[in-house]
Amino acid sequence: MRSTLPPILLLFLVLYSFNLDNFSLTSSDKRLNSLINCGSGFTCGGSGQCFIHRCFCNPGASGEVCSEGTSRDCSSLEDLQARLTCFFHDDYGTAWVDYRTWRETLAREETFWKRNVRESNDRADEHISGFDAFSALSLGQHLGQYAELGCGPYTQTYTSLTRSRPDLTFDSITLSDPNLFNYMKNSPLSPYKDGTFLNIKTYLVAAGAEAPVFGSDTFDTVLMVNVLEHVQNAYVVLDNLWRMIKPGGLLIFNDRWVEKWTFDWLDDAKLHPIRIRQVVLEHFLVQFEVLFQNDNGTQEMKQRGGEHGVYFIGRKKLETL
Ligand SMILES: C[S@@+](CC[C@H](N)C(=O)[O-])C[C@H]1O[C@@H](n2cnc3c(N)ncnc32)[C@H](O)[C@@H]1O
Repeated sequence: MRSTLPPILLLFLVLYSFNLDNFSLTSSDKRLNSLINCGSGFTCGGSGQCFIHRCFCNPGASGEVCSEGTSRDCSSLEDLQARLTCFFHDDYGTAWVDYRTWRETLAREETFWKRNVRESNDRADEHISGFDAFSALSLGQHLGQYAELGCGPYTQTYTSLTRSRPDLTFDSITLSDPNLFNYMKNSPLSPYKDGTFLNIKTYLVAAGAEAPVFGSDTFDTVLMVNVLEHVQNAYVVLDNLWRMIKPGGLLIFNDRWVEKWTFDWLDDAKLHPIRIRQVVLEHFLVQFEVLFQNDNGTQEMKQRGGEHGVYFIGRKKLETL
């Protein structure tokens, strides 16, 4: 059958669908289907990481069971840029770095907030708009045992969630960040600086989200906004985040992924060592039933170019995919 569409419109549609195929988190990534199951005894042959029951190979390794190639030893490299280049994996981006690299970037993050003590939030208005003012949550919704990971000095719970939705209720709030005690000491505008928060029973945890401090199926709701690019190991953080939410519990999440490294990522990596590809985020988000999803990145991502972001609210599925 001949198309009746003008050629220019056809060209536009082809380009548009190409764009969607590449950059929308709603399309299932072919790379996921080839990843082998892990857990219950199989540990990816020592050359990969078991992330929500799938093997993601280490830099240098590839193949279904990560048996092709050899895992690189990047941590012994002295030069930071050489180390960061070494940790990059063609299929998954930079999903983890060594402890030393992470500590160096964390110290820079702490210095940044120490120098900017007059700030009172971290782009909260942008996040409120990205989440459409949390319209996916019903009026007066009870969020039960609630946690925010990588909460920073100001928390998105305070600066965006409860500011735009004061009707929401909680049983308890757990705030966690590896820099938590430094923020309490050095950020006078931090809403938890005196150890209390929103007049709700609050637990403060000074730890990275990789630490196994939270049990499985513990929380009714977990929020994590704009944290992943700062962590040491995105696989472990996302695996923990998924585990700690009760089946049927809520995830409120924002982060970014990169497919084309058009910006100066090595320089940017001094603050943000982790840059994952879409496939990593997709394997995580597919474990949740979508209640809200906005694939438009933030202004910052558009300015930088090459980055994509997602605002996501979902319910943890009973079955693991
Ligand atoms: C850009 S700030 C965002 C803070 C907060 N989520 C917000 O949006 O206001 C990133 C935060 O991630 C924290 N972070 C770094 N490594 C982390 C890790 N391994 N686990 C959890 N948080 C981490 C940093 O200390 C920092 O507070």
